[in-house]
Amino acid sequence: MRLNGETKLIGFFGSTYRTSKMYAMYNAAIQAMDLNFLYVPFAVHDLEKAVAGIRNLGVAAVGVTIPYKIDIMDYIDELDPNAKRVGAVSVVLNKDGKLIGGNTDGEGALRALQEKTSVKDRNIIILGCGGAARAIAFALNDEDCRITILNRTVSKAKELATAVDDSVPFGGYDSLPDLVTKDTILINTTPVGMANTAHEGESLVPEQLLGPDMTVMDIVSKPRETKLLQNAGKRGCTLVYGYRMLLWQGVLKFKMYTDVEPPIEVMEEAMESIK
Ligand code: ATR
Repeated sequence: MRLNGETKLIGFFGSTYRTSKMYAMYNAAIQAMDLNFLYVPFAVHDLEKAVAGIRNLGVAAVGVTIPYKIDIMDYIDELDPNAKRVGAVSVVLNKDGKLIGGNTDGEGALRALQEKTSVKDRNIIILGCGGAARAIAFALNDEDCRITILNRTVSKAKELATAVDDSVPFGGYDSLPDLVTKDTILINTTPVGMANTAHEGESLVPEQLLGPDMTVMDIVSKPRETKLLQNAGKRGCTLVYGYRMLLWQGVLKFKMYTDVEPPIEVMEEAMESIK
């Protein structure tokens, strides 16, 4: 790794800065491509001042995650059209002193899905409507497929469906049995099933609804195989793991940070080694 006065710094703003091991994936890619960049997680104490730090220290870019994805929009200069419609930022690029926000969540999820199945003409049900769901819903709605948004709080599902496109159907989880078709793609964007939470080991989807022509994706990446994916595996569904979304987002971000074609296999290998 090259480190000198010309080294471009890429930062990470997120509450998981101590534990996130994504730096290993980026730095492995930087090294493989012999680039003069360094990726470092930052401990953000005051977001506004941290953003001023990007400007004042000439940090080249930052990856942004919980809890800063929405608040950071107040302090940067511009949003790209995707970050604008999603209303959240997962990456900030410093373009000659101008800080521009983008969002890779939706495209990352789409790539993870597409490496396993085609979304064309498919019936896709999104469970949940938080920030990640929002990004995913917009990205999928650009594709040739039909999305439906279900949520515990139906009024929020309605809000998101309307924001994406007036014709997007929405509802509560109780409508799932009526909506699932033989080859539905189901995407869980809620924290249900996440390790170290009250809902670890739970799934929002009754196992008997799952069948072998379906594709089931869980954006929860810890544990790798959530209860939903375990059940989907038993029923012969095609599985899309949350960590693949993280990988593809990393690939997309690396390209944005460096303008260099990402060494996908190197990133994949680094990610496997840090699980
Ligand atoms: P993020 O922005 O990280 O995607 P979020 O905004 O906290 O996360 O959104 C969480 C989503 O998971 C919401 O859709 C939430 O449902 P509500 O809008 O009804 O709150 C959903 N969610 C969280 N915990 C849940 C649970 N125990 N059962 C069902 N849905 C849950």
